[in-house]
Amino acid sequence: MKNFTLGAFMCLLLSINVFAQDSSSVFATMDSHDAIASQERYPDDIQILEVRNNQSAVLLSNGVAEQIRENVQLHGSGYIFKATEELAIAALNIPVRRPVNLEYSITEDGFVNECLDLVNPENIESDILDLQGYGTRYHTKPQARQAVLDQQAKWDAMIAASGRTDVHTRIYEHDNTPMPSVILTMDGANNPDEYVIIGGHIDSTSWDKDDAPGADDNASGIASLNEMVRVLLLKEFVPNRTIEVMAFAAEEIGLVGSAEIAEHYADNNIDVAAYVQFDMTGYKGSAEDVYIMTDYYNSDSLNNYLAALMDHYNTSGDHAFTYGYSECGYGCSDHASWASNGYDAAMPFEAAIDEDNPNIHSPYDTYSFFGTPEHATKFTKLGLQFLIEAAKPQVLGINESAEMTVDIFVAKKTLNYSLKNLHSPLKEITVYNASGQVLANERVESEMGLMDLKNYSSGFYIAKFVLENGQVLSSKLILN
Ligand code: BES
Ligand code: ZN
Repeated sequence: MKNFTLGAFMCLLLSINVFAQDSSSVFATMDSHDAIASQERYPDDIQILEVRNNQSAVLLSNGVAEQIRENVQLHGSGYIFKATEELAIAALNIPVRRPVNLEYSITEDGFVNECLDLVNPENIESDILDLQGYGTRYHTKPQARQAVLDQQAKWDAMIAASGRTDVHTRIYEHDNTPMPSVILTMDGANNPDEYVIIGGHIDSTSWDKDDAPGADDNASGIASLNEMVRVLLLKEFVPNRTIEVMAFAAEEIGLVGSAEIAEHYADNNIDVAAYVQFDMTGYKGSAEDVYIMTDYYNSDSLNNYLAALMDHYNTSGDHAFTYGYSECGYGCSDHASWASNGYDAAMPFEAAIDEDNPNIHSPYDTYSFFGTPEHATKFTKLGLQFLIEAAKPQVLGINESAEMTVDIFVAKKTLNYSLKNLHSPLKEITVYNASGQVLANERVESEMGLMDLKNYSSGFYIAKFVLENGQVLSSKLILN
């Protein structure tokens, strides 16, 4: 009952927000050729407000907006939703590119290869099946919200298992859809204010909104992202720059979730060094494996970097795959939201355009249609290569890179200890006897000192040194 009330309230909210401009129309931008073609077809239902750079700001009747979305069944030009007329017109301007602080270097060979070896296609398969199991993730359906909450729970469970306190998730509620997005953040150790972001949309669509499994579009992309996160946590990767992984709401109705988030980042002057989109990674429809999209809004330098990473890591051996180039022809996915806010964006895609999965946006977009996680695995590898090389591993200070050591000796039943190169301050010392009972426990402040053990009989003991960050060092000691 509670859920139902919430759902109904959200639907009401959505209808207020999306159609606030007029109860039955939608502001948007779209490719000018498509705008003209749509106007010829539905002269009373589309008004072209302004044209610039082959893009048009338009006002669409709700009916025609729905028609366009349905015509886009395979791959056609959709429209990008804008909340107001001003925003639709402003979006026609070519955005000013922000400065980027990225070396585009490839320096982490050893660690990257260890990570690539751990990519497990079975996890990707199981995540795709989980996501298609909702039946639909159409943005207004309760299942869509549930899928996002469950995605957060999946990440939270992985983080909890890793014991990390520098990795967090948050739900991002939107103005123009009842569906939330979810964001995972791995705090940068040295340059936390520089962000390296990857993402994909977690919503789905179909002509039957109750039957929209969205296995390739885009459970495959989300599953690829999840496997990157799992491997990074398993390898205890601490990035130098902050890494974020985003699962967006409501991409299918006009990039709604990513547009709100990217705009929020831009408004707050957040320094996003690069954004890479994973949308459709499951179906191998072309001769090459990964297709780098080269539309005008994508960044050449970022595209070149992705190509260089594949030249470096994927030309031979267990992790070999090939790549080519293709074009969407318009702002076909969430990376366009980041590009329109001036950030460098890219999208490595499953096939050349028009050779991609023919079943997307239909009830037939199921896992069984491609039936293997192998193709998506290549995108997970590319993503790991990109994240590790772009965010770079934490740069350790002299103390942290040297091994921690414990030196002790016992004289006159007094423990003398000296610890060196500790990664965090010493917090407490516990002394156990041979059967594991705690005999003494002291909070300490110095890494060097004495501990009185006169009350204990001669024998064999263990001293455990606990650091502020939870790390533990231990040493045997003999009292005589
Ligand atoms: N995954 C598709 C984009 C896509 C499909 C790219 C086929 C290349 C080939 C995405 O989810 C989508 O459907 N996007 C919309 C655009 C959006 C502005 C509504 C589309 O392509 O119409
Ligand atoms: Zn998609």
